[in-house]
Order: sequence, then structure tokens, then C-alpha cells
Amino acid sequence: MNAALRAVVRTAAYHNIETIGVYNGYEGLIDKDFVTMDTSFVSHIIQRGGTLLRSTRSKRFREEAYMKRAFKNLESENVDGLIVIGGDGSFRGLNQFCTAHPIIGIGIPGTIDNDMIGTDFTIGYDTAINTVVEAVDKIRDTAYSHNRVFFVEVMGRDAGLIALRSGIAVGAEEVLIPETLTTFDDLAYDLITNRRMNKTSGIIIVAEGDELGGAVKVAQKMEERLPDYEFRVTILGHIQRGGAPTCMDRVRASIKGYHAVLGMIDGHNLDMVGIVNNKVVFTPLEKAVKHHHEIPKDMEEMIRILAI
Ligand code: F6P
Repeated sequence: MNAALRAVVRTAAYHNIETIGVYNGYEGLIDKDFVTMDTSFVSHIIQRGGTLLRSTRSKRFREEAYMKRAFKNLESENVDGLIVIGGDGSFRGLNQFCTAHPIIGIGIPGTIDNDMIGTDFTIGYDTAINTVVEAVDKIRDTAYSHNRVFFVEVMGRDAGLIALRSGIAVGAEEVLIPETLTTFDDLAYDLITNRRMNKTSGIIIVAEGDELGGAVKVAQKMEERLPDYEFRVTILGHIQRGGAPTCMDRVRASIKGYHAVLGMIDGHNLDMVGIVNNKVVFTPLEKAVKHHHEIPKDMEEMIRILAI
């Protein structure tokens, strides 16, 4: 997110547009927690994870009265446009706010889950999957050396794209994701099949939102069915959401921040800026919040075939 912020501030400065930063997302908009940003404000942040401006989930911003207050704050600073980095919740708020008030709204997709349409990759996703790969490669050493099967839980409350791509990259035996139904019987069958094929260890990536439950529950169920297996669980948690962003995350975030400003100058409003097939595209916010990325259908089968 810092790379996008840096790109917004510097592109705007180049075009003689002043930028004001809002701390803590919509909460800061309501409380007028503003900071004037010059080009040096965003120095030395491109390599840092998280966001310099910090972020909060705001319940108040769902209420019309608080939206009005936020608008008055922006009006008092002569603000013409608002650029928001976030996921579908943030964009829903932005769409509503900028439809009800004379403020131009542009969204930059930022979520490690990568579950938005209108962009091939959201900010944070590449860093998150690389973190998963680095961690699972280390876990694999114990799995192999001690003949164990590890259930590794990754983030993705509603989406399995972190699990899916990192699963391919670590050579996982199986991936459990919310978008497709796997039963405990299916999983036990696959584990038995793997063992018959002389596999003595394994990595199963479990998306936290999988319908079977998290990795702890899945491991418990498998222990009941396969008592002679040695299972272990690792929950990667918030390490997936931090750390130095990867090169591709920095590049894509910079492109999106740059084009968010250019798009605003060109008259875009109520749009999200994304990159699809290496081209910058604008998608109406309304559409972006309603539709999610589809899971490539053959990927799960491919993971199983590549693990034989
Ligand atoms: O929405 C993105 C996401 O990373 C989910 O995958 C995850 O469940 C959630 O955020 C974690 O949110 P929090 O930090 O509020 O627990």
C-alpha cells in the first residue's frame, strides 16, 4: 500500500495537485485526521509493508450522518477527489459516499486475498503468497525428515487464491479452499492413496475459510480416521500480511497509484483502477464489489496430479 501511496502523492505533485493523507481510513475522514503530504512525506516507504497512513474498519462510515460529517471535512479543505486503497468493503463505502456527495472517487484494489475482479492481482497478494512459500519450504524439511503430514492454514476467509497458488508453488499434496467442496472422506482417501504410492510425508494447504473448518479441525478429523499417521498443524496467520513487499507488488502498486491520479485527471469517477493482461483498466466500483475472481477450474486437479 505504501508503494501506491507514494505513486499517488508524487504523480499528483508532478501535475500540481495537492494531496492530503487521511489517517485510519474512513474513521480519519470522519474525525478529520488529515495530514498534508508533500513528496518527501512518502520518501523511504516503498520497501515497507502495511500502510504509513494506517487503517481501521469503520462502522460509523456506514451511517449517513457520519458520511455527511466526512464530506464537510473534505469540503473545508477544498478536496475534489478521494483515492481509497482497499477491498470490497472499502469500495462499497466509497461508491456510496461519492454517489451521495460531489467528490470524485477512485479505488485501488488492495487485499492479500486477490478476490476482486477488474485486476489480475491485488496489492499484497504477491507478497503474501511468497511469504507462504518461504514458510512452507521450511516446514517441508520437518515433514520429510520426520515422515509427517502437515496441515498448513493460510489466510482467505472467503477466497482460496492464496492457498491455490502457494499450493502449486510448494508442491502441496492437496489444497482445501472455500470455493470447492472436499469431504473428510475424500481427504482421507487421498491421504491413504498417497501412502500407497510410497509418500511418507505431505503438505496440505488449508484456506482458513474452507467449509471443513480450519487446519486444527481438519487435522483432528484425520487423526480419528487415520491413527497411524503423524499429523501436525501450522497456522501462518498475520505473517502473511506484513513484511517487505515483493518486487511485483511494488511495481503493480506503483502503476495503480500513478494511473489512479491520471484517471482522475482524465475524468474517471466511481471507478477502480486495475491491471488486466498487463493493461491498465478501469472498472466501475459497483461492479468490482459485486463480482469476485473465479477459481481456475483445473488448478486443484493439477495440484493433485503434480503431487503424484
Ligand atoms: O480480508 C483479507 C484477510 O486477510 C482475510 O483473508 C483474513 O481472514 C482477514 O483479512 C484477517 O483480518 P483481521 O486482520 O481483521 O483478522
